[in-house]
Amino acid sequence: MDSLKLKVLLATIVASSGFVQAQCPAVWTDVAADLKETFLDGGGKCNDNARAAIRLAFHDCFPGSCDGSVILANECTDRGENTQMIDICSTLGDKATQFGVGTADIIQFAAAYGIAACPGLPAISVKVGRKDSSEPNPTGQMPGPNDNATSIVSAFAAKGFSVTELVALVGTHSAAKDLNGNALDTTVQDMDTNFYTETADGSAPSSLNSDKFLSNSTETSADWNSFGSDAAAWATAFVPAMEKLSLMGNDEASLTDCSSVITEAFP
Ligand code: HEM
Ligand SMILES: *[C@@H]1O[C@H](CO)[C@@H](O)[C@H](O)[C@H]1NC(C)=O
Ligand SMILES: *[C@@H]1O[C@H](CO)[C@@H](O)[C@H](O)[C@H]1NC(C)=O
Repeated sequence: MDSLKLKVLLATIVASSGFVQAQCPAVWTDVAADLKETFLDGGGKCNDNARAAIRLAFHDCFPGSCDGSVILANECTDRGENTQMIDICSTLGDKATQFGVGTADIIQFAAAYGIAACPGLPAISVKVGRKDSSEPNPTGQMPGPNDNATSIVSAFAAKGFSVTELVALVGTHSAAKDLNGNALDTTVQDMDTNFYTETADGSAPSSLNSDKFLSNSTETSADWNSFGSDAAAWATAFVPAMEKLSLMGNDEASLTDCSSVITEAFP
């Protein structure tokens, strides 16, 4: 057998055994270059578009599936909980069309990019190939800013998330602003643990009642305080929880890994 035939044979065996991961489509490198302009401020840290994109990833997935329906089924314009994200919905919807990529994918990719742009956490892995849907997800699934811990814990449990995963995920409020534009911690451009400590001790510029409840309720305060005093513990809990969120309703095995595009953008 000559070496070409051998190579073909080997490639066939490896591919049929499922060991070969499809390569990330090159277009995602172009998307990342575009997001660099959209998500970073002059100082190279995350801006308001990045914050909104991180939140949008949660709002697309949590009601049922990460399927782009927040944009494609107009959940963004039709649902009160999404009002603050109408601009980012329109921006990312346009970019999906411009680059010819999936809407559900660009939402999760943008969130992963946004998380990397607000420094402090390790990069999360990001996969592409989700199915888009213009069917709306069920209404009434999102927790609200005045919900108590019991109610938020049960909303997350209903979607398969533990208390620890919930408390880790809400730590993205470290890079969040409220309705009035006030930051939820003193270091709004960083994904750090000040959000946990400042929410708990009342020194944050502004706090959501939901976050106060999570910080001071017996069901959630142990995780809250542990993340507040241990950035590594938060990162260890956050990364898999965010990856799990970003895959809701999708078959991970059918997706293609594009994590390297993000890590190369933030060396
Ligand atoms: C635990 C339940 C949660 C509640 C009740 C909640 C609620 C809110 C509210 C009310 C805002 C402020 C915007 C406004 O005032 O309209 C906000 C902002 C934000 N949320 Fe959450 N959230 C929760 C969990 C999460 C999770 C799991 C993530 C992401 C994984 C997330 C990411 C964000 C981000 C990044 C912002 C900042 C948006 C901006 O500044 O434009 N939130 N959230
Ligand atoms: C939490 O909120 C739910 C729903 O509004 C309410 O039924 C429940 O009594 C509240 N729990 C506590 C401990 O306040
Ligand atoms: C916990 O936070 C809630 C929401 O802000 C507040 O109403 C409540 O008084 C706090 N409870 C304690 C024990 O501090």
